[in-house]
Amino acid sequence: MPRTDDRAPLRVALLGCGVVGSEVFRLLVEQAADLRARAGAPLEVAGVAVRDPARRPGLAAGSALLTTDAMTLATRPDVDIVIELMGGIEPARSLLLAAMRAGKSVVTANKELLGQDSAAMHRVAREHGTDLYYEGAVAGAIPLLRPLRESLAGDAVRRVLGIVNGTTNYILDQMDTQGADFADALGEAQALGYAEADPTADVEGFDAAAKTAILAGLAFHTRVTTADVHREGISAVRAADIASARALGCVVKLLAICERCDGGISARVHPAMIPRVHPLAAVRGAYNAVFVEAESAGRLMFYGAGAGGGPTASAVLGDVVAVARNRIAGIRGPDTSTYAELPVLPMGDALTRYYVALDVADRPGVLAPVAEAFARHNVSIRAVRQEGRGEDANLVIVTHTARESQLAATVAELGAMPAVRAVGSVLRVEGEEGE
Ligand code: HSE
Repeated sequence: MPRTDDRAPLRVALLGCGVVGSEVFRLLVEQAADLRARAGAPLEVAGVAVRDPARRPGLAAGSALLTTDAMTLATRPDVDIVIELMGGIEPARSLLLAAMRAGKSVVTANKELLGQDSAAMHRVAREHGTDLYYEGAVAGAIPLLRPLRESLAGDAVRRVLGIVNGTTNYILDQMDTQGADFADALGEAQALGYAEADPTADVEGFDAAAKTAILAGLAFHTRVTTADVHREGISAVRAADIASARALGCVVKLLAICERCDGGISARVHPAMIPRVHPLAAVRGAYNAVFVEAESAGRLMFYGAGAGGGPTASAVLGDVVAVARNRIAGIRGPDTSTYAELPVLPMGDALTRYYVALDVADRPGVLAPVAEAFARHNVSIRAVRQEGRGEDANLVIVTHTARESQLAATVAELGAMPAVRAVGSVLRVEGEEGE
């Protein structure tokens, strides 16, 4: 068998050199000997494409490796592997398609791109006999996509429940443990560098929706795009909801939910209460975790750092070693299968439990019509709790499992009742009934 040292180096192009890219570059250089031994050939950096060479963390000014011409680098004949860490749809999409058409193996952490149209990306990879790996796109360091694609290939995944956005988990955790309201907790997340100056992608669930599409596609062997995922963020979660959750033995989390249901799958992102005894309730701060329920394996939990330079670089370099091994063996890694082609069901068909908080007048005859509205829409009440507030009261109702469309009809009717001053909030309750 040829020694590793005898093999020609595999040449790596790095597109993007920000927080993650500079860490990948550092490790490619500093861990070169170990990576060479593991991959089976030296991994040599052929070039680093950046938008602005004056801002290139981790690289010496004027380094000959730097270029602003990402397309030329990504398609250069001497390049074998292209790592894309620029993020966003364009120019990343054009660069990766061109790289694969030129026969390069591709590693990316770009969830927006994969969430938007992974089918087209995979088709091009297949047509050109190359690899497309993206473990770093979902939940940073946590090995998750490979276990779903490979380790669980012989099982039937029933449900994936994930905390896949660290910023929102940090904010909700601060609201739970410090009693902070949303605005204060967001300010802290921004001060600590978790949340961007424009936090929309995180707090409104866009980031989590792209990751949910990737997870649902792998879990259910189906094409799922971000546009198929029902999305709600956490900006409407009130301190009062967090307090109610606490009183009910629950905690509020922004959940990515992918479920196999009758007639298809449900893919959604929204804040939800989960019982404090659920393993996901223990996921604190900016950590991520994904809970998978499979028919034979039972319940699995994947936990770790979901973002940041080091953690994401770990996932990226794992992919780089994998595609390098494949190139040396002259093979492609396992393809993503979409044979099941299950329909993604509308949100109205989702089945879950609900917490409904109502501001009501505290007088005789209020509870009965409220309960009747639930009954009329076939939503069964599990528990009712009331806190008096002078002449008014906060009435909290928790339901048994019901269909989203029926709950929505109930809420619309409640909102129009004279005795109901306002529907304070509606939150889904996830986790097994009785947990
Ligand atoms: N902004 C994301 C988070 C990390 O807060 O988890 C990148 O996907």
